[in-house]
Amino acid sequence: MLKPKSNITFERVHFAYECENVLRGIDLKVNVGQSLAIVGPSGVGKTTLVDLLLRFYDPQQGRILIDGIDIREFSLKSLRQNIGLVSQEIILFNDTVKANISYGTLKPDFDDVIKAAVKANAQDFILKLPNAYDTVIGERGITLSGGQRQRIAIARALLKNPPILILDEATSHLDSASERVVQDALEELMQGRTVLIVAHRLSTVQNADHIIVLDRGEIVEQGRHKELLDKKGLYFRLHQIQARDK
Ligand SMILES: Nc1ncnc2c1ncn2[C@@H]1O[C@H](COP(=O)(O)OP(=O)(O)O)[C@@H](O)[C@H]1O
Ligand SMILES: [Mg+2]
Repeated sequence: MLKPKSNITFERVHFAYECENVLRGIDLKVNVGQSLAIVGPSGVGKTTLVDLLLRFYDPQQGRILIDGIDIREFSLKSLRQNIGLVSQEIILFNDTVKANISYGTLKPDFDDVIKAAVKANAQDFILKLPNAYDTVIGERGITLSGGQRQRIAIARALLKNPPILILDEATSHLDSASERVVQDALEELMQGRTVLIVAHRLSTVQNADHIIVLDRGEIVEQGRHKELLDKKGLYFRLHQIQARDK
């Protein structure tokens, strides 16, 4: 089993899907309780990089370590039990709200499910559903908005309480009102964990402890927000494009 808090290291990680090289020699380190943001143009390999930590794929060269141990030495179950994921594609099951929040946690206490929902800013909308926590999502036209689905996913991660957290474009496709509540819930979730943040909106990476910028399979720039802006390189250009699109 992993320790309650965990640091992450990538050593010369190369990865290709069939013949398409995606990552070429990635080195990175995230210390316990720190956040690392991964930035770069669409299709550059940000999701691939975090998928490698979850072992959806293994790198062809190099290795990934948690607390100095190669992640291939953990069982998949133990590895994934220690990593929470909130991504753009939230998978909800055709089951109750309670079951959806509990997914990934063994025998959760209902009080803890409620606590997680409150922290995730989800309690208000859940209580307005026909059967509150017992409402079956997907049944009789019960559908949730993008922001509500995100908050269910955040409650799920809070309940699971993993030492490592991955946020992959967790606030994309939300209107700015939902983005604010989801962002607040995410900040609550990030507390005290080691976090990898993939964000297409640079505003969500500004507070990260460290930022890496990927281009053509490599880390081309890294540092903190202000240092990267001062470099007037790719990070600066991505920032300008986004400011213009607003
Ligand atoms: N399952 C897959 N099989 C083959 N190619 C993939 C797969 N997933 C992603 N890719 C390709 O790998 C590259 C990186 O994708 P991805 O990691 O999703 O980028 P990002 O998250 O930065 O937008 C893209 O060219 C994408 O088309
Ligand atoms: Mg992606």
